[in-house]
Amino acid sequence: MIKIAVLGYGTVGSGVVEVIGKNRDMVNKKAGEELEVKYILDLRDFPDDPYGDRVIHDFNVILEDEEIRIVCETMGGVGAAYQFTKQALSAGKSVCTSNKELVAAHGPELLALAKANRCNYLFEASVGGGIPIIRPLNYSLTAERIEAITGILNGTTNYILSKMENEGADYHTVLKEAQEKGYAERNPEADVEGHDACRKIAILSSLMTGKNVDSNKIYTEGITAIEPKDFEYARRMGMSIKLLALSREVGEKTLAMVSPFLIGGDHPLHMVNGVFNAVFVRGNMLGDSMYYGRGAGKLPTASAVVSDVIDCARHLGKVIMCFWDAEEADLMNIDEVERAFFFRVKAGEGEARARELFGDGLREVRLPGETEECGFVTQTMAELTFAERWEKLTGVTAGRRLRIEA
Ligand code: HSE
Repeated sequence: MIKIAVLGYGTVGSGVVEVIGKNRDMVNKKAGEELEVKYILDLRDFPDDPYGDRVIHDFNVILEDEEIRIVCETMGGVGAAYQFTKQALSAGKSVCTSNKELVAAHGPELLALAKANRCNYLFEASVGGGIPIIRPLNYSLTAERIEAITGILNGTTNYILSKMENEGADYHTVLKEAQEKGYAERNPEADVEGHDACRKIAILSSLMTGKNVDSNKIYTEGITAIEPKDFEYARRMGMSIKLLALSREVGEKTLAMVSPFLIGGDHPLHMVNGVFNAVFVRGNMLGDSMYYGRGAGKLPTASAVVSDVIDCARHLGKVIMCFWDAEEADLMNIDEVERAFFFRVKAGEGEARARELFGDGLREVRLPGETEECGFVTQTMAELTFAERWEKLTGVTAGRRLRIEA
């Protein structure tokens, strides 16, 4: 029998206990041995819970118990979770986590610590919730040089954008409704400003490059300035607006960024709606592959944590993780990135100045019956060139600019 401890009995932690309990026979068969949750660490007591008798408040009990071989860290954050993870790994106990913040902030250190102590630090649930993406990158696609990863990695923002698109509602109304339904956090900043997607693409970029991609250095733009009118233009062009997190090889450098993008109807991520996530991976041999499913939620996320637990149980004493170095990846300055842009200006003077600044390459986009403003799509140009011209339109713009993903 392999004994497990769960750190944090919140949404994901209780999901882990539920998955192990509900799928007991199958989980045990696949693990090759019976798994038992021996301790649940939390600040609170759960007297009415069927597992309430396993709740403890002192992490040292877990650390000092030699029977505990696997720890599930479902606390979140980079405070106590970081300390407990380091202590568990130093004691040779494998750690399975859903904590993307911790993996993004201290991944190389924790992976090295696990390796030194012949155990594993696995984090399938940290990106894309229940969608298998870390394991495909680490196992199935190991013969590939990964050239690009493009993902919809945040369910909250995808839900908000899908609702805005389908109902013509404004951002604040949809956010409020999403909060009331429990889809969005009361403090939604990490989601709507793109920080959550940024941490996730930092992890995927680090796996892609084998070097550390610092999430603090990734250009990140959220969805708070998107207006219903942007969707009207998108629809007119047969496009949609999605918050994309992307990472790609550009020569010797890596481009990593998070931003809302206009994407065409034939883009594989166009049909990813609501709370769903998807990750689109391009390898140099396989070509394109896509991973789609529920990127958040109790049981999908817990299922991914338990899949890591099973992997650890099958490989006790053996290091199975893949690594990325502590060395910093060489990130490209996004000023140099070439792409097309969409922007909106006021009718009359705005239009005239836009044509003067951008020349013949502009494609006009008009909404039926709209007399106050119009939209334009530029030719492919560097971010910096676009930004300099866009600044010269100050005073005659009618909305935001949007990047276009080819
Ligand atoms: N807040 C995240 C989301 C949860 O909306 O996708 C999963 O990381």
